Amino acid sequence: MLPNNFIWGASISAHQTEGAFDEDGKSLSVQDVRPRELDIADFKVAADHYHRYDEDISLLAQAGIKAMRISIPWTRIIPNGTGSVNQTAIEHYHQVFKTMHENQIEPFVTTYHFDLPESLQKQGGWLNEKTVQAYEQYVRVLFNEFGNEVSYWLTINEPNVMLLADRKILGFTYSHTERYQAFYNLMIAEKIAFKLCHEICPQGKIGPVPNISEVYPGSARPKDIRAAGYFNAVRNWSYLDFSVRGIINPIFQSYLHQTGIEMLIKPEDTELVTSNFPDFLGMNYYTTVTVEMTKKGQDRTNGISDQQSEDVYEDGFYKGLTNPFLQKNEFNWTVDPLGLETTLETVNDRYHLPIYITENGLGAYDELTSDHQVHDDYRISYLKDHLTSIENAVNSGVDVRGYLPWSAIDLVSVHEGMKKRYGLIYVDRTEDDLKNLARYPKDSYFWYQNVIKNNGV
Ligand code: BG6
Repeated sequence: MLPNNFIWGASISAHQTEGAFDEDGKSLSVQDVRPRELDIADFKVAADHYHRYDEDISLLAQAGIKAMRISIPWTRIIPNGTGSVNQTAIEHYHQVFKTMHENQIEPFVTTYHFDLPESLQKQGGWLNEKTVQAYEQYVRVLFNEFGNEVSYWLTINEPNVMLLADRKILGFTYSHTERYQAFYNLMIAEKIAFKLCHEICPQGKIGPVPNISEVYPGSARPKDIRAAGYFNAVRNWSYLDFSVRGIINPIFQSYLHQTGIEMLIKPEDTELVTSNFPDFLGMNYYTTVTVEMTKKGQDRTNGISDQQSEDVYEDGFYKGLTNPFLQKNEFNWTVDPLGLETTLETVNDRYHLPIYITENGLGAYDELTSDHQVHDDYRISYLKDHLTSIENAVNSGVDVRGYLPWSAIDLVSVHEGMKKRYGLIYVDRTEDDLKNLARYPKDSYFWYQNVIKNNGV
């Protein structure tokens, strides 16, 4: 049984939904300038949520949704990355939060979801410590302005995915060494957010929001177990160990050492790192990864072209495999509901913090019928199976406090544009035809409404 105060929500991010990419003083982010394949939608209009948030929030409220995860774009609040604050944007989000509260919806706010101001990227992005200082200024503004309206803050969306699949997510590639210097700066930025949130809004709670999923060994061969240990450390535990325990994960440290990376750790950061911690964990989960140890002489380039799939490889450490026991979705992502239960139990064993599932969902080709329905029984069964796993984990003592699936409304997928839909609510547009952007609740919306009404029973 799920607890009575379990939070039923839904999630989106700003750049994938808002559009209005150059309105009201917003500057360009790395997402706005990211090269996209020609036939894939860009983020200029997206789902037009910036102009239609009222309608979207009201539809979610009608489904009984109690929490909505959004992100705020840095490029709206401080268009130059640092310096002057854009009051029009501040006023916009006051209105958004007011609308949510009027609809009894609790905001869960991500401070930054892949959309670094381009001006900061031009100066080195997360490789430059100035970006950390700029982030400090930015989140200080958020906590001061919205601290009375927001109780749940999420720091930086999926720094692990951002760094591991950098070209696909950010549009540029860090070298191996740069990637781990960016790791350090991102994690320091997160620690600053924990500290400032607790100082400025003591009634607020804050947590990290990585993409966490158990890495399986491809066989019982001891080398494959080592491979899974390495990729678990590189993909998952290095991030959460830093956030929650204030340490560099030892296997990750050994991996850095073996690959010749000297991550510059500043001794003067020690106090910040070891005395500021999250109140809860936000966790995004889609799929699991299975790996084996690489073999000598394999003709592969190191790299991770899509961290959520099997296409991962690092010479001497791990190689992604197809897991013959799992099915894949239409976009080739492995579907593994039991993996969520396993992952939740592992995360609970390691960190003992309340957990909110801040993303989980199925990207699929949906069809809108002539009478404006979407019969997405495949999405219902994905969500149902994952919720069952959450309930099982709760029954075995894991403190999961909320479920905010991806996504509330259809949005522009990071990798595959508009054709890959995640929403409970259909948004009527295609990759290149904006149509009228009308909203139509899908079958999964009505199913979720019923789930919420019965608290998951
Ligand atoms: C998560 C991101 O990694 O995966 C989301 O936080 C993203 O922004 C989601 O949309 C699904 O990925 P994709 O590529 O299918 O959009």
